[in-house]
Amino acid sequence: MHLLIPAAGSGRRMGSNRNKLLLQVRSRPIIAWTLLAAQASDEISWIGIISQPIDWQDFKKIIADLQLTKPVELIQGGSTRQESVYNGLQSLPANAKQVLIHDGARCLATPDLLNRCAEAIRQCPGLIAAVPVKDTIKVVDENGIIQSTPERSQLWAAQTPQGFGVKLLKQCHAEGVAQGWEVTDDAALFEKSGYQVQIVQGEETNLKVTTPQDLAIAEFIFKTRFGEE
Ligand code: C5P
Repeated sequence: MHLLIPAAGSGRRMGSNRNKLLLQVRSRPIIAWTLLAAQASDEISWIGIISQPIDWQDFKKIIADLQLTKPVELIQGGSTRQESVYNGLQSLPANAKQVLIHDGARCLATPDLLNRCAEAIRQCPGLIAAVPVKDTIKVVDENGIIQSTPERSQLWAAQTPQGFGVKLLKQCHAEGVAQGWEVTDDAALFEKSGYQVQIVQGEETNLKVTTPQDLAIAEFIFKTRFGEE
């Protein structure tokens, strides 16, 4: 299974002036943990890291230090996540029938989750890992006034991995460009194009490291998982 890792963001919400994926958690850069999970997944056979050339020297060193045995390619990122994934899709080897897309910032995803998504995508056109939301969610207008309260039992928080048939996802991305759709995950392009996306049970610990608080939580989860350093 081919895996694309969007890793071309900035550290703005982290309050950092560099790519947040280069920040350390439990003595390793965030992206290193994501790569270790991919390396440990029996299903993943090829890894494409979508990233900005300014980070390539750092990423190459991280890849070398990890001594990964799977082929890893660096692919130039775009100015949005959507654009980055678009670039990644163009760089997939011609034999890639399905693809998993997993955010570099979700460094706590387990190899088991990657395996389950890889197995499931062979049986359906599109899927995402997701968990039921615990909070009551409000739809709020620009004045801070609540417009509605969607029924919680129908709400799921989208995670990655997200998996798709390559041909169909390329088609949906092209449609997104043509229509000017701006989305924050690939499933949204699939949905807008009228294709079904299946939910795979995600992991409560599979958080997207976005803020300094998330870094502390990630540190704690790794400590719980692997013990003291
Ligand atoms: O910014 P956010 O955390 O939502 O980004 C989700 C993932 O998409 C991150 O792993 C980030 O590196 C990646 N990204 C990207 N290209 C961008 C912006 C974000 O690959 N232009």
